[in-house]
Amino acid sequence: MQDLKSMRMKQIATLLLFLFSTQLHQAQPGNVRIEKSVDSLLRLMTLEEKIGQMNQYNGPWAATGPLTNDGNLLDQVKTGKVGSMLNVTGVQRTSELQALALQSRLKIPLLFGQDVIHGYRTIFPIPLAEAASWDLAAMEAGARVAATEASAAGIHWTFAPMVDIARDPRWGRVMEGAGEDPYLGSLIAKARVKGFQGKGFGDTSAVMACAKHFAAYGAAVGGRDYNSVDMSLRQLHEVYLPPFKAAAEAGVATFMNAFNDLNGIPATGNAYLQRSLLKGDWKFRGFVVSDWGSIGEMIPHGYSANNKEAALQAVNAGSDMDMESRSYLPHLAALVKEGKVKMTVIDDAVRRILRKKFEMGLFADPYKFSSEQREKTQWNNQAHRKVAFEMAKKSMVLLKNEKNLLPLSKSTGRIALIGPFVKAKSDHNGFWSYDWPDDTTRIVSIWEGVQQKLNTGAALLYAKGCSITGDDRSGFAEAVETAQKAELVILTVGEARDMSGEAKSRSTIQLPGVQEELVKAIVATGKPVVVLISAGRPLVFNWTADNAPAILYTWWLGTEAGNAIADVLFGDYNPSGKLPMSFPRTEGQIPVYYNHYNTGRPATNDSDRFYRSAYTDLSIYPKYPFGYGLSYARFHYSDVRLSAKTLRPGQPIQAAVTLTNTSATGGTETVQLYIRDLTASVVRPVKELKGFQQVFLHAGESKEIRFSISPEDLRFYNDRLQYIWEPGKFRIFIGTSSMDVKEAEFELMR
Ligand code: NOJ
Repeated sequence: MQDLKSMRMKQIATLLLFLFSTQLHQAQPGNVRIEKSVDSLLRLMTLEEKIGQMNQYNGPWAATGPLTNDGNLLDQVKTGKVGSMLNVTGVQRTSELQALALQSRLKIPLLFGQDVIHGYRTIFPIPLAEAASWDLAAMEAGARVAATEASAAGIHWTFAPMVDIARDPRWGRVMEGAGEDPYLGSLIAKARVKGFQGKGFGDTSAVMACAKHFAAYGAAVGGRDYNSVDMSLRQLHEVYLPPFKAAAEAGVATFMNAFNDLNGIPATGNAYLQRSLLKGDWKFRGFVVSDWGSIGEMIPHGYSANNKEAALQAVNAGSDMDMESRSYLPHLAALVKEGKVKMTVIDDAVRRILRKKFEMGLFADPYKFSSEQREKTQWNNQAHRKVAFEMAKKSMVLLKNEKNLLPLSKSTGRIALIGPFVKAKSDHNGFWSYDWPDDTTRIVSIWEGVQQKLNTGAALLYAKGCSITGDDRSGFAEAVETAQKAELVILTVGEARDMSGEAKSRSTIQLPGVQEELVKAIVATGKPVVVLISAGRPLVFNWTADNAPAILYTWWLGTEAGNAIADVLFGDYNPSGKLPMSFPRTEGQIPVYYNHYNTGRPATNDSDRFYRSAYTDLSIYPKYPFGYGLSYARFHYSDVRLSAKTLRPGQPIQAAVTLTNTSATGGTETVQLYIRDLTASVVRPVKELKGFQQVFLHAGESKEIRFSISPEDLRFYNDRLQYIWEPGKFRIFIGTSSMDVKEAEFELMR
């Protein structure tokens, strides 16, 4: 007996040696060697060890949700009961925990996950702001920088990108996504996955990405975070799933499921989503992690009677890893023994998790992300700041610019900088960013950015005016006086860094506090006023929109905010951002989105609102439409020219416009292509984005912009969820926003 045992131990040791020595650099998914290694390791594992791999705990140092730490966490790591940890960062801490994991019988390394959402050390604009750049290469580069810094700090896995489509700006998490459009959202999802995962797993600067939150989390009723979602499967497939599918196609390593219930079934326990679609139809080979505590939350949902049943439902539905619910560890073994969970289900989940650990090269070297030297060199990386600076400039959207007030001349005399954001620092970072001890010196405030830009000695005046929140108007008088002394005012208003984000839904999305009153008081001085709005979502600011001569929407721009803003204000960068989300006129207009159906009683203009699908007391238009954004240049669009009036399979047609920069300034325009299927077996949106091109034109330059259209571009989900195209007439629109377009028609024939 003793001999048998020691023989077995020897076998294990030899196999482990083989597994650990395997050099799997640049490992590609589907790698035969990895599959063999995973199988061999699985054969060695006890049921308890397998379940350990499916368990993820929060680190002992930080939490982004309610902590259920029971004190013996470190022992559990040592005994192989933990497969992954989140919120453990830095080479020192990750190495310490990894060393504990390597004391376990099978020495399976831990995966360290973290919410690296828009940068790690160098903070980038929030994802919604980046989406406004429509610049996929820039977004990929941003994710690359984030991955390089995070991986240098021992992190293997980021819980990003969030690819939830969102049509409701009351929902605080709009800041973390790419806005309202499935086409743009899909391209951005791909770009971000590519950026995070870089050259591929095995490269030390690649982190695993995570497409979240699967699915339809962004459609929470009323924009209240964590709320229910009830929608047709057609809408789910057409609007909410495409970015997830795109992420899967781009090779995303993991998916995270969601807090919401979808059509009555919590996403975490939803087999249709996780098994039929993701792992079935989409052939996804990575693993699915639950959201924080979302397995246990199926109890208050009223879907699971207790934690054991929640574990049963989640695992059978395809949730492979339990983030902080503490449902799998205590219950899965019993569920297997009772025959309620098949061993094949456990093996499949564990295989998926181990596969990623092998692909990341962690068996070959569990400390490969643990170089203190590399951590140091990535800590204050000037090249990274440069990438963040470029991204920040591209993310701003110029909403209004009467009489070309912007750009400002660097020789403007006295400039007054007024408002609660002038000297703000961490507010520029926005939600989902880290606080570093030296933030006050690293983050560039608007004050610093403008000061550095005007090294000519222009006099800068300052008054705070009011705080972001609260009703204290005592600073107004000083602000007005300061404005009066100046030639021009730059007025900064917006949301504090934690006003949009997780659990930050708001019923009112007006400018908070008395900020709009401050705008009124400053505009009343008669001085030219440029308003900068820093925010994590589309806000409502009608008075400002109608009365301030110039408005630049700066979102939350991150570390380089002040420098980027100064570049745009003083014309060293010509703004090029376009809104990735419609801006409502009032909260009562929400949801307002450009790709809606026409209805049987469409309102076509504001004098045509009665007995129409419109409010009697509100314009039918959003305040600013999807795709909108001005430039210091002016662009003229010719009529649309079609290469043919009929489109047949295999014979794409070309749609072209001549774009002319009619101004004296060079600038970048994002030319947008929309289509509408005029009659179909299910009603179709009035417009759907199908393409865009970014083009820089020098002053006076013209260029032909051409799009190719084939039947593939005209597919949609019919009432049987088949992704098809149907012959018939289509309208095509090319223009500068979803509302300002030139159009033409063609017919699609079989
Ligand atoms: C909850 C959030 O919904 C999710 O996006 C995040 O990744 C986890 N907490 C971990 O922090």
